[in-house]
Amino acid sequence: MSDLAELEQSITAAIAAAADEAAIEAVRVAALGKKGSISERLKTLGSMSPEERKEMGPAINGLRDRITQAIAARKSELKDAAIVARLASETVDVTLPVHMPPAERGRVHPISQVIDEIAAIFGDLGFAIAEGPDIETDYYNFTALNFPEGHPAREMHDTFFFSPGENGERKLLRTHTSPVQIRTMEAQKPPIRIVIPGKTYRCDSDATHSPMFHQLEGLVIDKTANVANMKWVLTEFCKAFFEVEHINMRFRPSFFPFTEPSLEVDIQCDRSRPGEVLFGQGNDWMEILGCGMVHPNVLRHGGLDPDEYQGFAWGMGIDRIATLKYGMPDLRDYFTADVRWLAHYGFRPLDLPTLFGGLSA
Ligand code: DAH
Repeated sequence: MSDLAELEQSITAAIAAAADEAAIEAVRVAALGKKGSISERLKTLGSMSPEERKEMGPAINGLRDRITQAIAARKSELKDAAIVARLASETVDVTLPVHMPPAERGRVHPISQVIDEIAAIFGDLGFAIAEGPDIETDYYNFTALNFPEGHPAREMHDTFFFSPGENGERKLLRTHTSPVQIRTMEAQKPPIRIVIPGKTYRCDSDATHSPMFHQLEGLVIDKTANVANMKWVLTEFCKAFFEVEHINMRFRPSFFPFTEPSLEVDIQCDRSRPGEVLFGQGNDWMEILGCGMVHPNVLRHGGLDPDEYQGFAWGMGIDRIATLKYGMPDLRDYFTADVRWLAHYGFRPLDLPTLFGGLSA
């Protein structure tokens, strides 16, 4: 085989073996570059005799043309292959389920939702939110609220007490949100219009009682607040909260040490369908809160003169009204931190309750 034929064969083999664009470029430089094997042959033409050149000229030029073409062809083949490979590696499977962002996946706990709803309703009525500590003293939880020492009402609260401190004082987990009434009166002058949502604790646990539960306390103090104002506020709240046009409420005499007179409030409901309670209709009644005119001794403990100021207060179970509105059967499930329960009963985080947009979407 002639020298040129051998060269052609080896370059052709190298072209076929080039696996990517860099490799084919290297083959091109080795054959056709300045010092490439074919370029070197072309340089020898100048020193040949005319006869020799007549034969070798077309042979070497022909070789150069064929190799140039072969390289160009392989190059474009490799380029296409590279695009195909890249497309394959970047494929997006559009049939995969969409990955939900946290704002879609997360859920607001029904208690948080109901507290937000309460805040929206009372905010609209001109009330502010107040808070107080979960760990209270006997004074704020009982004495200042007119529970006399040794009074049986103290026993009714099934209090969780802490061990006595160095001064012998026994702190406790507040049994109701009412202590914040006293703390607020101490901290600000009337007129006072506050609601107090918060955690409360009693030693009690069954399907309708949890040792930790939530209350909403309300307090209005000024120079003229009266029972009629209280009835109006509570009726407006219940209508807005249960999202009904009209609701009948029944006020029954009751007893709390910190109010005089004291009342318990029932709301009209319909329990004729099993497993369902409808509000604003029907012939049944359901107790939802306790209320009354603030006792003069409580005003005194709060640093206010009962001859100058008067007010009303109420307390209700947030968990209970949440259950009534959203129908969760067992109160204890609220606090087991089971994410499946939350996924079922929770609320979408961006559906904030407002009076204009709707409380519950
Ligand atoms: N503190 C009471 C309780 O825990 C509820 C209550 C009743 C609060 C009447 C009040 C009220 O402010 O006026 O059972």
